[in-house]
Amino acid sequence: MCAIAPHGGKLIERLLPRGENAISVKTDHVVVVDKWTLSDLDCLAIGAFSPLTGFLGEADYQSVVESMRLTDGTVWPLPVTLAVDPFRYQGVRPGDRVLLRGEDGVDYALLQVESCYLPDKQKEASFVFRTTDEAHPGVQKLYAKPALYLGGPVEVWRRPEPERFGDYYLTPAQTRERFAENGWKSVVGFQTRNPIHRAHEYIQKAALEIVDGLFLNPLMGETKSDDVPAAVRMKSYLALLEHYYPKDRVLLAAFPAAMRYAGPREAVFHALVRKNYGCTHFIVGRDHAGVGDYYGTYDAQHIFRQFKPEEVGIQLLFFEHSYYCRTCQGMVTAKTCPHDASHHIALSGTKVRAMLREGQTPPPEYSRPEVARILIEGMREQEVRSHR
Ligand code: ADX
Repeated sequence: MCAIAPHGGKLIERLLPRGENAISVKTDHVVVVDKWTLSDLDCLAIGAFSPLTGFLGEADYQSVVESMRLTDGTVWPLPVTLAVDPFRYQGVRPGDRVLLRGEDGVDYALLQVESCYLPDKQKEASFVFRTTDEAHPGVQKLYAKPALYLGGPVEVWRRPEPERFGDYYLTPAQTRERFAENGWKSVVGFQTRNPIHRAHEYIQKAALEIVDGLFLNPLMGETKSDDVPAAVRMKSYLALLEHYYPKDRVLLAAFPAAMRYAGPREAVFHALVRKNYGCTHFIVGRDHAGVGDYYGTYDAQHIFRQFKPEEVGIQLLFFEHSYYCRTCQGMVTAKTCPHDASHHIALSGTKVRAMLREGQTPPPEYSRPEVARILIEGMREQEVRSHR
């Protein structure tokens, strides 16, 4: 087994053994959970959110919002909550058992209610997202949720079945096993919600020079509508790995969670979760999990100064903003290249999206052509679908 301990000391899996299911359980209420919440439930089920046993109760919620810790002091930066309609569920009481059903009609889990509370969402937004601006996608999502939170441990009967790439939805127990089978003593985790460009590749490979394996763990849950869809990304990752990475040094697996766009706090969250998957190291580059200009370029690195290294328990690898330099003829950062911006190829996401939409391949110094082709194809398919 991989040597690194999960966050909080042991892997907390909430997925019941096969065969134990809803039929035998009497419940007091049924809550239909959206895809976003279902992806959190899945992370709870498989142990990705260890040491959480379920959705946060009021005391842990307040503590996480205000101080990025559970009430027992364990570092935990993001609230994982179940929001329900306060009128429809005003009768729910601690001690009640709630059946959690998906929008697909499938019964997924049981929530043992320990806490019912009305959160102060403005406060949650300003602590977690550092803004109450409704234009921020995470804040928008938070404000759109119903106003009553239910907290308590969950027991999960089954995992949601992804439409595609199901084989890549590994559990932390499985990834730990794979790392051990590969003989990897040190593994660097990489989070992304985007296709992998040359800058990503550069920092991954720089990290891989000092560890045994790379755990490529793209986020596959809900993202904002202008991010590249997960299925297209997955195809692009497979093409990239096939052409540019040694097979015995990389494990690709889906991270089922939704994107919060909480910048610095989400970087801490992403690091802890990858520790649960068995990583010993984690990459944080420029504006990790950021959106617009809500966060400073390196805020997601600076936030780790607030914790003792052993409280986070995974080695952080911080990288500067990387890009291609024509004069150096390679990927560089301000730390390694003496030339000014006129020598560099640094394209904005908006510019690249516009190029892809036009069917133009971005320069190879920005994106591998195999990746660009898949993205162009993906955009075309999306357009055809939206015109149907
Ligand atoms: S996100 O999931 O963190 O929002 P993104 O795909 O943009 O997604 O970034 C993945 C990781 O690569 C993050 O750690 C981010 O900081 C880092 N990163 C992205 N672009 C660059 C870049 N040009 N230079 C250095 N790090 C980068």
